[in-house]
Amino acid sequence: MTPPQSPPLPTAELHVHIEGTLEPELAFALAGRNRTPLRHADLDELRRAYAFADLQSFLHLYYELTAVLQTPQDFTDLAEAYLVRAAAQGVRHAEVFVDPQAHTGRGVPLEVVFEGLGAAFATAEQRHGLSASLIVCFLRDRDPAEAEALVPRLRPYRDLVIGVGLDSAEVGHPPELFERAYALAADEGLHRVAHAGEEGPPAYVWSALDILGVERVDHGIRSLEDPALVARLRDQQVPLTVCPLSNVALRCVPDLAAHPLRRMLDAGLLATVNSDDPAYFGGYLHDNTESVAGALGLHAGERRRLAENSFRASFLPAADKERHLAAVAAAAP
Ligand code: ADE
Ligand code: ZN
Repeated sequence: MTPPQSPPLPTAELHVHIEGTLEPELAFALAGRNRTPLRHADLDELRRAYAFADLQSFLHLYYELTAVLQTPQDFTDLAEAYLVRAAAQGVRHAEVFVDPQAHTGRGVPLEVVFEGLGAAFATAEQRHGLSASLIVCFLRDRDPAEAEALVPRLRPYRDLVIGVGLDSAEVGHPPELFERAYALAADEGLHRVAHAGEEGPPAYVWSALDILGVERVDHGIRSLEDPALVARLRDQQVPLTVCPLSNVALRCVPDLAAHPLRRMLDAGLLATVNSDDPAYFGGYLHDNTESVAGALGLHAGERRRLAENSFRASFLPAADKERHLAAVAAAAP
């Protein structure tokens, strides 16, 4: 039986990769516009490539398709398409990941990326009713010196860039390799988050907390394997940005019914629901909430708690958090 559809609650999206919002149709349109042909003959063939065995197999396609992003307008179009979809799914504030090294590494200047995304984000509130800012992720499977060199280059974009994160292939690339990059980011007053405990072990979550000083953990689902870590996350109310459809698509969990979100909430963790790479994993934010709530039988109070958690876990100023929390209360009395 399909679960009943509930309207989306006002929510903050805290874990979405802008490159992961590149829908196949837009990928083909940009490939044509920029004369950067894809190796897939048509949309159907491309869609058949969206079956993943693990994180690495997904990353191959994800990086391959980023090649169509060339000009500031491409990045504006990408962000604009995300904002439209996010607004329709109840998102009122988004802290969006970007992977600059995936673009500079193929000759697209940093300015092109930030100018293009910045143009869409600057008018997001007015045009779509949501605020948006960027979190720059370091690619953990590349030389940490590249990350260290990137930090001072973010200075001209501080209206847009609020923090740094760590993503890409996790296993074998532990957080502590980026200790210096995170220290530099802290000196710049940037917020700090990191992917940890998606495919990697609980030890990576410990080192993200203790060595990188992260304020939120992205994914963190494998934390449940370590009771002492669960106690730490609960006692300090460290937010975890959980991405249910991603976890199933990348086979971190077998299916939604087995998703650890239920256990995370029961353990008193500050978990939020997010979309990760929605163009690849079958849904945007509300699609994730609706699917996992249906599979785990989350009741109305738990759904409200997820929406509240998202604003509490955001990097918004206190007054904005209060305003959004009041909107959640009004929508889910
Ligand atoms: N980059 C884009 N999506 C990612 C994910 N789920 N994990 C790590 N790196 C990513
Ligand atoms: Zn992610």
